[in-house]
Amino acid sequence: MRKRIVGILVLLVLFLLTGCAGKQETGGDSASVVVGFSQLGAESSWRIANTVSMEQAAKEAGYGLMMENANQKQEKQIDAIRSFIAYRVDVIVFSPIVQTDWDNVLTEAKQANIPVIIMDRMIDTQDDTLYRAYVGADFYAEGVRAGEYLVRKADTLGAEHLRIVEICGTTGSTPMQDRQRGFMDVIGKDERFTVIDSVDGDFLQSKGEECMRELLQKYGTEGIDVVFSHNDAMTLGALNVLEKENAASSKDMIIITVDGEKDAVDALKAGRINCVVQCTPHLGPSVMKLVRDVTAGKEIPKVYHPDEGVFSDFDDLTDPAVEGF
Ligand code: AHR
Repeated sequence: MRKRIVGILVLLVLFLLTGCAGKQETGGDSASVVVGFSQLGAESSWRIANTVSMEQAAKEAGYGLMMENANQKQEKQIDAIRSFIAYRVDVIVFSPIVQTDWDNVLTEAKQANIPVIIMDRMIDTQDDTLYRAYVGADFYAEGVRAGEYLVRKADTLGAEHLRIVEICGTTGSTPMQDRQRGFMDVIGKDERFTVIDSVDGDFLQSKGEECMRELLQKYGTEGIDVVFSHNDAMTLGALNVLEKENAASSKDMIIITVDGEKDAVDALKAGRINCVVQCTPHLGPSVMKLVRDVTAGKEIPKVYHPDEGVFSDFDDLTDPAVEGF
């Protein structure tokens, strides 16, 4: 209870600092717009860069940003959205930790006439009037790119059979589900590939380490040919374990990661990782553009995916375009 009161007071102070209490219609006037933003956590460098992108873009647009970090808890995100409704922010933006169970709180936002923009991850709903737009990566395409890289690599090596371990992101999240689906759609029917294990690393470096340790205990370095890890944080954790175990082991395995943070791209350049599928955290400017349009009463596109690519050991890694965030 005490925590809740403190939370509400913090929101109230933030709200008063923006000087926007009681506003309903902004008519596109940026100085009066307040965005309530529920960030899901701080689990990775990707997430931290994403938060910074949102803060900077809001500042540049001249919007007040009420941000609440949910520390990986869906209940906290739901509480934050309810607080934003209570304070009648102009737009709610949130990055849902998992896909399910958002309909009730989003119905409350809709009844309060507050537009909702979903950022980064998606939700499962039958009612697409509960949100105005989704801004985030095409995670399925990212999984496809990872699979296509592996097929090309296997062709180049003339590999007959590759045993794959998959270190997955948070169970039930969009990137976890869609990256896995995209990857499997490419490699699933090709007899050269077998996914021997799939484990939940929760997008955390510490869990990536833990998972790799367990996988090595189960299969040994000899029993694993490919690591497909759903983000850089877990990959860097897994690399720590592989390289401690046996300096050569990571070079003997094909390592595929997703995100493109600086440490992972540097590891690619150093030959410690084979492929980095890009996923950009810099979504703030696109989100704020939609905020501007929606508060000005304009129509906005329902789905926006940023352009993304892939860097791998097939590329010229000295090209200055090959860099991380
Ligand atoms: O939802 C995007 C994913 O979440 C990123 O790939 C990962 O690093 C983050 O934690």
